[in-house]
Amino acid sequence: MNAKGVKELPSSEHSVFFYGDDAPSSNIQFINQLKDISDTRKMTEDNYSIGGEVAELESIMAKKLGKEACVFFPTGTLANHIAIRQLGLPKTRAIVPEQSHIYQDSGDSVQQLSGINLVPLGGGDPYFDLPELKEALVNSMNGRVVNPVGVVVIETPVRRCFGRSMPYEKMLSITEYCKERDISTHLDGARLFIASAFTNVALEKYGALFDTVYISMWKYFRAPYGAILAGSKEFCENLFHVRRMFGGSLPFSSLSAALALDGLKHFEKDAQLAVSQSKELLELLSRIPNIEVNHYEDESNIIPVAFSDKVNLQNLDRTLRSKGVFINPETNGQNTIHLTINMTILRKSNQELLKAFTEALETSVTI
Ligand SMILES: Cc1ncc(COP(=O)(O)O)c(C=O)c1O
Repeated sequence: MNAKGVKELPSSEHSVFFYGDDAPSSNIQFINQLKDISDTRKMTEDNYSIGGEVAELESIMAKKLGKEACVFFPTGTLANHIAIRQLGLPKTRAIVPEQSHIYQDSGDSVQQLSGINLVPLGGGDPYFDLPELKEALVNSMNGRVVNPVGVVVIETPVRRCFGRSMPYEKMLSITEYCKERDISTHLDGARLFIASAFTNVALEKYGALFDTVYISMWKYFRAPYGAILAGSKEFCENLFHVRRMFGGSLPFSSLSAALALDGLKHFEKDAQLAVSQSKELLELLSRIPNIEVNHYEDESNIIPVAFSDKVNLQNLDRTLRSKGVFINPETNGQNTIHLTINMTILRKSNQELLKAFTEALETSVTI
């Protein structure tokens, strides 16, 4: 809020979004936020993503992840790519989860631009297990042509699998096995901060398992773009040359870094509040007739909620919207939706949310 006092929030800023990583953002919101920041402190300049706010963000993120250093990237897609490239080469095979962003959503950039073959494991599941990894490693050495694996990638939580997270013990066994075999490891932790709040595994504890960790700056910290790649001092030193080679050293990245720093300030505390509020809310919702709250055993912040066949979800969605509560009414075909918990849950009390769901259900149940 600015010095003139509490700003009158437009109604959408009171809305709760039970889908996505946050409320939808807009140019004007970033501009206002930057203005608020620059009214309260000096925003220091960077030079092609070196120094200034960017350096401050890199140093804070390194501390939070228990790593020696960090490098800012314009996108997570590039941060993942560079991590795999730097950790992997000259070995030209990397193991990745089949459902990961790097395998499914990056246009085969690692294969095309760095000549590293990505070997997908885990099929439709959010993660692979140790026996599957061992088999792939044996195959890479016993094939007609020896093709050693240089790096193993894990993504957690997995966006394509409703935010399900690889349990810490499984991660530990995989990363320890890789260490024994001198294979590097990288974590795509785009949403690791929210996952850590739900799994109760500290960020540094995740960070300690991997050679490098990537965190998104725009999914939860309200920056318009940006990513942080954390690793050892040796790994990060001079990495800006590779970043520049890929056209990733944007000038004026301080604008995005300042917003991320601002978003980071309260994130961990707010995430704890969101976890406890959501637990209580789900408990209250589960007592309402026609609603069944389910759980994935490896869930983070996305919860499957089943409605009885009597509930018309389109009507439910419409009424909830009119009360400033947004859900994603898409189902798995069985009247089950997913509620994503993000920081917007803190915009309304559980009493208000319970009332909204109760009243919306009254308009949506057919007899
Ligand atoms: C798990 C995961 N990794 C990586 C990325 C890539 O991030 P960016 O959009 O910043 O390139 C995304 C973004 O969609 C993601 O969900």
